Amino acid sequence: MKVLVVGSGAREHAICWKLKQSSKVSKLYCAPGNAGISQIAECLDIKADDLNKLVKFSLDSRIDMVVVGPEAPLVAGLVDMLNEKGIKAFGPLKAGAKFEGSKSYSKDFMKKYSIPSARYEVYTSSEKAIGDLDKFNTPIVVKADGLAAGKGVLICESKKEAEEAIKSIMDKKLFGDAGNTVVIEEFLRGTEASLLCFVDGKNMISMESARDYKKAYDDDKGLNTGGMGCFSPNTIFNEELNQYIKEYILDRTMKGFLNEGIIFKGVLFIGLMIENNRAKVLEYNTRFGDPETEVVLPRLKSDLIDIMQKCIEGNLSEDDLVWDDNKCVTVVLASGGYPESYEKGKEITGLNDVDDDIIIFHGGTKISGDKTLTDGGRVLALTAMGRTLEEARNKVYKNITKVHFDKIQYRTDIAKI
Ligand code: AMP
Ligand code: GLY
Repeated sequence: MKVLVVGSGAREHAICWKLKQSSKVSKLYCAPGNAGISQIAECLDIKADDLNKLVKFSLDSRIDMVVVGPEAPLVAGLVDMLNEKGIKAFGPLKAGAKFEGSKSYSKDFMKKYSIPSARYEVYTSSEKAIGDLDKFNTPIVVKADGLAAGKGVLICESKKEAEEAIKSIMDKKLFGDAGNTVVIEEFLRGTEASLLCFVDGKNMISMESARDYKKAYDDDKGLNTGGMGCFSPNTIFNEELNQYIKEYILDRTMKGFLNEGIIFKGVLFIGLMIENNRAKVLEYNTRFGDPETEVVLPRLKSDLIDIMQKCIEGNLSEDDLVWDDNKCVTVVLASGGYPESYEKGKEITGLNDVDDDIIIFHGGTKISGDKTLTDGGRVLALTAMGRTLEEARNKVYKNITKVHFDKIQYRTDIAKI
């Protein structure tokens, strides 16, 4: 099969790395890819949001399956466009991607299908939103409705702060049109967990769980980021909680999809807040997570292309997913300053000095002559497996010191439990 992966981060590197292991994949392309991906796939000079070019390339090159990594092309309808031309794609149609593209849509869906989630209100006027703040206890969570590159959630300690947040999102357009509507939510306490599920239109089958570290610095200090590290499986899960999540969240979500006539095929990533062995949904994403993918796919023993094909055909079963009992840890090496402003173009050295059992997934990197340069906020994700989380964690941290670039920034407490 000829496969095209769309995207350029460590998530897409992990997807390419896993697909490359399949004997069924004869040719792998990635658009646009990065320095690491270029070692295992042919990278194309097509951006992930250039839908027309992606469709044209897929048609011209007779691509058998397009795998869409990031949310933006899904929300923009890339899979719909590909399917119209008869090209198979892994990822939801626009109607399914709306669960990530609009928080108010998701919240209304959760309410309709009694899926546990934070109490909320939706506003299209800043005046009305500010006027209603007394309905909420602090901290107050203010969310831009649309896509905002993971930055659209502001947690406000006071009503004054919430008022400022509403004004900057709705009136000053901090996140552009994504903030024309806001969702205001009660603040949930607890521990976060990421649960990614394969969905085949009829069945939702969860992958092994993961724990993401969203804050920039150790001890969860600093701003929210796309994710600074991750481990799998997440130690918070147990039989009772799994049963609760299946019954109240997975089954009800799937029932809702079917009831609404939404044929969801691809990955549904459910962000959870867990407290007292009960879970509430923070958000739905309609794609693989980053860095969740970097710890989940290395633990998947089954052939990923088979699973993706079965999702598209609508005949995935639990038995198709076989997992490695070993634990996995990834630590993100970021550019100094991330998630705020940072510099690019720093030379990365030491990539060949790491131990053989370390997987380096590239995020924001590019090749320049014979050098590898930084080219984004999250630059690399160093990953290791181990019999225990501690073993995996120690392997990663032992090797991190071998990789260098100017103003490197990473957390030292990933998977420290
Ligand atoms: P979201 O994009 O909705 O997942 O929000 C991004 C992050 O904001 C989440 O991973 C949480 O850390 C935090 N967050 C979102 N909603 C809430 C909430 N209702 N209560 C507490 N934290 C939240
Ligand atoms: N790691 C969180 C995300 O991919 O949205």
